[in-house]
Amino acid sequence: MTDINTAKANIDSSGFLDIDIDVTLDLFAEIERLKKEKNAVILAHYYQEPDIQDVADFIGDSLGLAQQAEKTRADIIVFAGVHFMAETAKILNPGKKVLLPDLKAGCSLSDSAPPPLFRIFKEKHPDHLVITYINCSAGIKALSDIICTSSNAEKIIESLPKDQKIIFAPDKNLGAYLNKKTGRNMVLWNGACMVHEIFSLEKIIKLKIRHPKALVIAHPECEQPVLALADYIGSTTGLLKYSKESTSTEFIVATETGILHQMQKASPGKTFIPAPPDNSCACNDCPHMKLNTLEKLYLCMEYEQPEITMDEDLRIAAKKPIERMLEISKRYGL
Ligand code: 13P
Ligand code: SF4
Repeated sequence: MTDINTAKANIDSSGFLDIDIDVTLDLFAEIERLKKEKNAVILAHYYQEPDIQDVADFIGDSLGLAQQAEKTRADIIVFAGVHFMAETAKILNPGKKVLLPDLKAGCSLSDSAPPPLFRIFKEKHPDHLVITYINCSAGIKALSDIICTSSNAEKIIESLPKDQKIIFAPDKNLGAYLNKKTGRNMVLWNGACMVHEIFSLEKIIKLKIRHPKALVIAHPECEQPVLALADYIGSTTGLLKYSKESTSTEFIVATETGILHQMQKASPGKTFIPAPPDNSCACNDCPHMKLNTLEKLYLCMEYEQPEITMDEDLRIAAKKPIERMLEISKRYGL
């Protein structure tokens, strides 16, 4: 069995504390104990596994999580999400300890924009303002003017003069959707999310035929043909709210399946069908989000590792466009 010091030394290669846990331990109770003892808060994204959502203090979309990270009074932020989300929390809270249960919980969309290539792209469009989706690294944030999420992107774009030239990165699907919604012609970076690009249009159409009353609700990271079928398009919080408030009782949900946990809890009488991907699986999990487990969450709280650390100059540069996003969101009551 690996001892804790060896496990800590191995985090760079394993991404997490790889040690055995006593199987008789009640992890839910242990996590509650650690929260109190350490004044720790657990922030979880809707794509986390149900057990993690159930122990979280706040569950939200990327905007909600960034807003919670900005205002928390906890000493330790435990981020049950992916790396760019925990990094955003650290950028906003340099004095706090920010933990991520598995440091290798990355994001295909964030990976699609390496900062050195993005810098060259930006230099080719010197008169453009850079609006970047929060799903990117601190290096990309530092090259951006305003950060946005799927909850506030439209409002942020519309807050700018109509003739303002804009680069939108890294998600080309969200960018194309926003160009259509706002009537802009933003220059798009060619990135995408592996989870939202894999939905099968054909299988969704077949599901729709079998469930004619079901509404299709989709995240704007999906490709245009899926969005064209959707009755409602929105962020994870938007999708959850819509499913709660709608009088319909059946929904085909085109985003990561983790969100179904909250949808089902909020509307126990309604049916939620995950939109199927273009492979042999019935539903669509984000392999990065699902690297976090309840065991890893417990271990990272117990031993306060793995921790997010970053260069201070990079942090300061990455903070400005996030603060601009939070300011604009506040102005619009988002
Ligand atoms: P939101 O939760 O902000 O809608 O983002 C979805 C997503 O893909 C997060 O990685
Ligand atoms: Fe990234 Fe897509 Fe996973 Fe979200 S769902 S973390 S955008 S890979």
